[in-house]
Amino acid sequence: MPEEKDNHDFTEDEKHLLQEMLSENKDDLSAYGEARRHFLKMMTLTGGGMVAFNMFGGQELFAQVIAESSAAGNLQNVVKVAFKVNAAKKSLEVDSRMTLLDALRERMQLTGSKKGCDHGQCGACTVIVDGKRVLSCLTLAATCEGKSVTTIEGLIRGDDLHPMQLSFLNHDGFQCGYCTPGQICSAVALMDEAKRGEVSYVTNDVRKASGTVQLSDEEIRERMSGNLCRCGAYPNIVAAIKEVHTGKEVSQNWQFIKHEKEKNSIGSLIQKGGNDASI
Ligand code: FES
Ligand code: FES
Repeated sequence: MPEEKDNHDFTEDEKHLLQEMLSENKDDLSAYGEARRHFLKMMTLTGGGMVAFNMFGGQELFAQVIAESSAAGNLQNVVKVAFKVNAAKKSLEVDSRMTLLDALRERMQLTGSKKGCDHGQCGACTVIVDGKRVLSCLTLAATCEGKSVTTIEGLIRGDDLHPMQLSFLNHDGFQCGYCTPGQICSAVALMDEAKRGEVSYVTNDVRKASGTVQLSDEEIRERMSGNLCRCGAYPNIVAAIKEVHTGKEVSQNWQFIKHEKEKNSIGSLIQKGGNDASI
């Protein structure tokens, strides 16, 4: 007869297994070593994270891990970086190999910038450095000495959203929102690129280009092509950017169904299951 357990209790066998996986000395777990990695990995694999967390005095342990992970004493190849982040002066000691994205998220708790691919392919980590958009996952924090970094958190002005943030809201320029901080930072920097007259792959005549570039839908799509959206919110993203760029209202690409007649006709199309060739 198998030993009964509820969701919060380990069987004697499981307790024994966990004890074996853990180091006898909790201090070992906070080090950047095999023991810590093994512990975290096994906690995930066993699905017993929260239970084990309480069982072994987890709060104390994890507070120690977090405090120590941010202390320069545990870093290798330490470099000091002084820069501005969202207009505030910051001085950090970081591992020379630490990316700007990790420095923002893990050392400054600015988690708006997202880690999508960590390989420079999705744009979710886009931030603005000295007025230009960069992929923070491919930028070493150490190279930002003396620079000014703006993240999605720094775009808001007092209590007011940045016009680009508002426009994304008005045009429904997102679904899950994971790519959105990167999209918005990219779009904000794009406005300045257009003002500086920077050309793109789809600019018709690069010799004529001078002054502000007028951004067509095609130009916006091309210039935003480094920011991927798995939800496919592209048409609304283009509309949101165009509205900020032109200063003129861009009509919505969608609308709520208001009339019973329209609702009924949509309902009958759905009932046909899409087999009707006219759908
Ligand atoms: Fe940086 Fe994907 S996380 S490009
Ligand atoms: Fe979901 Fe873009 S809104 S990935």
